[in-house]
Amino acid sequence: MIYLVAAVAGMAGFLFGFDEGVIAGALYLLRPQFGIDPVMEGVVTAAVPFGALLGSLIAGRIGESLGRRGSLLFAGALFVLGAVIAALATGTFVLILARGVLGFAIGIAAIVAPLYISENAPAGKRGMLVSIYQLAITLGIVGAYLVGYVFAGSWRTMFLMGALPGLALPIGIFFMTDTPRWLVSKGRKAEARAVIARVRGVAPEAAEVDSELSAIAQTVDGPAHAAGWADLMSPAVRPALVVGVGLFVLQQLSGINAVIYFAPTVFKETGFDSHATQLLATMGVGIVNVLMTFVGMALIDRLGRRPLMYLGFAGTALGLAAIALGSALGVAGLATLSVIGLIVYIGAFAASVGPLPWVMMSEIFPLKVRALGMSVASLANWAMNVVVVFSFPSLLQAVGLSGVFGFYALVCCLGLVFTWRYVPETSGVELETIEAHLRAGRPFRDLGRRKAAARP
Ligand code: BGC
Repeated sequence: MIYLVAAVAGMAGFLFGFDEGVIAGALYLLRPQFGIDPVMEGVVTAAVPFGALLGSLIAGRIGESLGRRGSLLFAGALFVLGAVIAALATGTFVLILARGVLGFAIGIAAIVAPLYISENAPAGKRGMLVSIYQLAITLGIVGAYLVGYVFAGSWRTMFLMGALPGLALPIGIFFMTDTPRWLVSKGRKAEARAVIARVRGVAPEAAEVDSELSAIAQTVDGPAHAAGWADLMSPAVRPALVVGVGLFVLQQLSGINAVIYFAPTVFKETGFDSHATQLLATMGVGIVNVLMTFVGMALIDRLGRRPLMYLGFAGTALGLAAIALGSALGVAGLATLSVIGLIVYIGAFAASVGPLPWVMMSEIFPLKVRALGMSVASLANWAMNVVVVFSFPSLLQAVGLSGVFGFYALVCCLGLVFTWRYVPETSGVELETIEAHLRAGRPFRDLGRRKAAARP
């Protein structure tokens, strides 16, 4: 049952990756058809992250009023609408609009889907289950690369293919219930009890249902205050905000989307001459991204968030630094080095720096500001995504591959310091315990530490 919850919500992640990645294959055809210049190309490409930025602005409010389930139904409808309009587009304006709608849906789903999984999952499996969302993103990226390859002659078909997972999401979600935490916050306790029992596969009267329900009720009925910006900025919640926003800023400035969108360019820079081999190497990056996400899923609840984060930032820094140095020194065999470096980079990212910010943003905020806090963290993600994607080509021209990758490598080193200084250990810790720790005003990074250290 719980896996069904994750699978349905994971569909939202697939759509995220697909609608981001599909432009890579389509641009090649769109350029001559619509006479798109590089500036317009930037606008068409960035319409998705821009739309997502707007979507993430209101996702918190939609998540509260429509519920987690209602919001995903709404996003699903937008995914279908956007895909159909994009497929029928007669000019760049309509295309930009359609991609804006798709981005808007992504912005909502990117917040609500991890929340939906997280609020339905038992603490011990939460990290792994939310990582399914990240896995779905990577599958969506590979799916889009594949669709771009198979339907190489028709960009309309490429876009239309996005309507299929777009349809699957609302159909799947239609048969699911909302999360116990949202139901309790709306005073619908009896329904919440039934959901917990069903998700756990036990009777509604079972003791574990009682204890979970009362733990949820306690945080919901906790100190009364308006769940607004003031609360998000309050001293008790601020450490969660720093971690939520900080991790996404670092994730994006580690250059992930420069690699995802511009991998062929990178491979070209390092000496791959033919377009075919550039695309092949890019496909390799997409596949390693998927495979290493499985490794991350296996490790996230076992190894703990902090150790995995250290490994991730160390690995990404290493991969990037190797390419930056090799390119600066003009070493022989730079092409081979760039493949190895990017595989190390994407592998470390996929197992750690990719999924962890998503997992942690869904668990560190107190319930009352959870949706709002996640909106703000997501906003940081999208804003930095746009910055990186827009700036990469000009930076490449200005300071070369060694300069850009050197900068991203530095950001990853900063990530190590940030993890040490601010990131708490939330592995296996109940959401209610995380909230109590924050409210007690204890240093956030001390959370779960002794427990993690005591583990064999
Ligand atoms: C990031 C995306 C990125 C993706 C790549 C996600 O965690 O937030 O920006 O495109 O990973 O797999």
